[in-house]
Formats: sequence, C-alpha cells, structure tokens
Amino acid sequence: MALTANATTHSMLGRHLLEFSNYTRDDILALLTLGADLKTRRRQGDRPALLAGKTLGMIFEKASTRTRVSFEVAMFELGGHALFLSDGATQIGRGEPIADTARVLSRYVAGIMVRTFGHAKLVELADHASVPVINGLTDDHHPCQALADLLTIQEKFGDLRGLTLAYVGDGNNMLHSLLQAGAKVGMHVRAATPEGYGPDPGVTEQAEKWAREAGGSVAVLRDPREAVAGADVVYTDVWASMGQETEAARRQAAFAGYEVNAPLLAGAARRAIFMHCLPAHRGEEVSADVIDGRQSVVFDQAENRLHAQKAVLAATMGTGVR
Ligand code: CP
Ligand code: NVA
Repeated sequence: MALTANATTHSMLGRHLLEFSNYTRDDILALLTLGADLKTRRRQGDRPALLAGKTLGMIFEKASTRTRVSFEVAMFELGGHALFLSDGATQIGRGEPIADTARVLSRYVAGIMVRTFGHAKLVELADHASVPVINGLTDDHHPCQALADLLTIQEKFGDLRGLTLAYVGDGNNMLHSLLQAGAKVGMHVRAATPEGYGPDPGVTEQAEKWAREAGGSVAVLRDPREAVAGADVVYTDVWASMGQETEAARRQAAFAGYEVNAPLLAGAARRAIFMHCLPAHRGEEVSADVIDGRQSVVFDQAENRLHAQKAVLAATMGTGVR
C-alpha cells in the first residue's frame, strides 16, 4: 500500500514550519492525511523508514514532555535519529549567536526543531539555516500542537470545514495557532478571553481573512458562554504560560470565571469534545470532572502529536514520501 502522499506533501520539502502563514489549506489537509495514514500503519506494525539515516536537532530552551518525546519517537520510528540539545548543555546558553548556531547545525542535521521564548529568535534561526526549521513552541505560536488538534477533531467529526471551535482563556501561543490553522481549513473559531488577555490583533485580523476565504469565521469575545454556545469543540490552555510564572497570581484573578467546567460545557453541542494541549491545571482553567470526563479527548490529542509530527518531518525533511 502506497502512503497517502501526493504532490502537495512533496511541495513541502525543504520548507520551514514556523507558523501557518506560508501553508495553504491543501498543505494542512495533506499533512493531516499523511499523519492519519502513518497512524493506521503504526497500528498495523508498519513503520516506513521515510527518514532513514537523517538526524533532527532539537533545541529546547523551555521544558517539555510531549514535544520532546513525540519528536524523538517520531524520528526513531521513521528510521532516523533525534538529538536533544538543551540551551544549558550547548553553547546556545553561553551566548553563541543564533545565526552561527543555525549555520553550524545545518552542516550536521537534516532538520532543526526549536522550542524557545521570542518568536523572532526562531525566525532568525530559520533565516540562517539551510535545512527545515520546525517550531516546537514559541511565546507566539505552537503549530505542531494545532496540527495534532486538527487531526484529533477530524477523527471525531470527519470534515473540519464548518465545525465550531470555542477557545476559553488566555490569548496565547495556543490560541494563535488554533486561530491560524482553524481559519485555513474553514472552521469557525470563537475565543473568549478576559480584557487585556486577548490574542494578538495582527494574528486575529490575518485569521479573519483566511477564514473568510475558506468559508469559516473568527470571533474574539469576552463571554465564555457566548463562545461555547453550540460549539463542537471546547478548548482551553493554562492561564500562565512558560515564562509567565511571576504573573501567575495576577492572572488567576483576571481569569476568574473562565474555567471550563461542567455548567459551561453544558452550553456546547451535545456531541461536543473537550480539548487541552496539556499540561493542565485542574481547578484553574479546567475542572477535574471535565478534563477527566467522557467528552475529554486530551490523551488522543497528546498521542496525535506523534502522528502529525511524523507527517511534518517526512514532508519537510524527506526525499519525498513514497
Ligand atoms: N503540549 C505540549 O507542547 O506539551 P509539552 O510542553 O510537554 O511539550
Ligand atoms: N501556552 C502553554 C502551552 C504549553 C504546551 C505555554 O506556552 O506554556
């Protein structure tokens, strides 16, 4: 059986994945198809060595469980190898210019995954790398998580176009990537965020335009109940992201009333699923009964990081999927 790959996945060869601006709806759908295909094959014991002999360098300047493990396992199962590069154990933490790091790593590895703070640092690295650079989370975007999320939603509901995703909480990296990816595939993305914690207006405006083109929509609201009303997917993320630890107390106060709990979820569609990128704080952004309840798909999401990222790795770093 040939992998479900086509001219679209082939056209992603050598491209960075920093956020979704330079990815079309067809690109995203092709990655989801390839990810779903690789997932099915894995269950059948088939692990095509699409990246045999290739190494992915993984730079981490923030903590990670899912991103590190899923990328490392993905590379292993695709026949390649992953190198964990923490800032403290490399010259990155001692101030070697990021442009030099990009040029040096490009001489050794076939791709670079980066988790860092400022998005500009990722862009600078990508500008100086001659191999594909993949965003493993910055303060502004988390595209690999959003791809895994779309794969999960597609598994539950089929066609993504026209589905409504309600995001409740902080206008952070996760919301930005969901706005971008959801808009590109024609979903209706409604966010409810407290005053002063909304998404970046530039990201929202761009997503509105993409959504219009794809038959979807984007709305940034205040009232969580309004956002959740009739939604197919209810999504939340932490109130204080990595790097915002000192703001945690102030944020807890600002986000009171934004917990996704059973009464709030009851306003969504009957078939609605609950999503969270994890790690989660039960009793803050989500109640324990919701995240551990029957509508929750959070561990499917976590698993799908592996499959969606295999698709990204194979499409950007492969010599073409067969
Ligand atoms: N969702 C996510 O990116 O998890 P990690 O921080 O554990 O990688
Ligand atoms: N918004 C969270 C996501 C963690 C996966 C953070 O940046 O810490």
